[in-house]
Amino acid sequence: MKLFVLNGPNLNLLGIREPDIYGRQTFADLEAFIREVCARENIEVECFQSNHEGVLVDVIQSALGKADGIVINPAAYTHTSVAILDALKAVALPAVEVHLSDINERETFRHISYPAMACIAQIKGKGFAGYEEAILLLKEYVQGHRA
Ligand code: DQA
Repeated sequence: MKLFVLNGPNLNLLGIREPDIYGRQTFADLEAFIREVCARENIEVECFQSNHEGVLVDVIQSALGKADGIVINPAAYTHTSVAILDALKAVALPAVEVHLSDINERETFRHISYPAMACIAQIKGKGFAGYEEAILLLKEYVQGHRA
């Protein structure tokens, strides 16, 4: 089984960026954590990060025929991107949306998520552990939907 893990804009600055909200661990720490979880679970993984909406759309499209599922933290595009929602709908792969912070406990403009409308779950406010939960959820989902 193979997963794509996508991270959106400004997540490359984890560790530097608003540490009171996002913590002091770096983006490299996050990717290492994701790779560790996937190795433990026998899951192949490809990690992507982009600050550009169109690149994220291209990566979602490229998952077709390559990945069994998608973990995505669309970051700020969560609250604006119909293009990411449509890309997830187009490939119709099981996807889980993750947020490090609890977007429902923050400014009201963060309460809406377009991509979540095409996801089997949204996990928020659990930091790095949210990515682990998303990976495990997708593993169970994909295995449960195999003949
Ligand atoms: C975020 C929450 C978003 O509202 C914000 O724009 C981000 C990060 C999170 O992981 O908590 O960039 O997706």
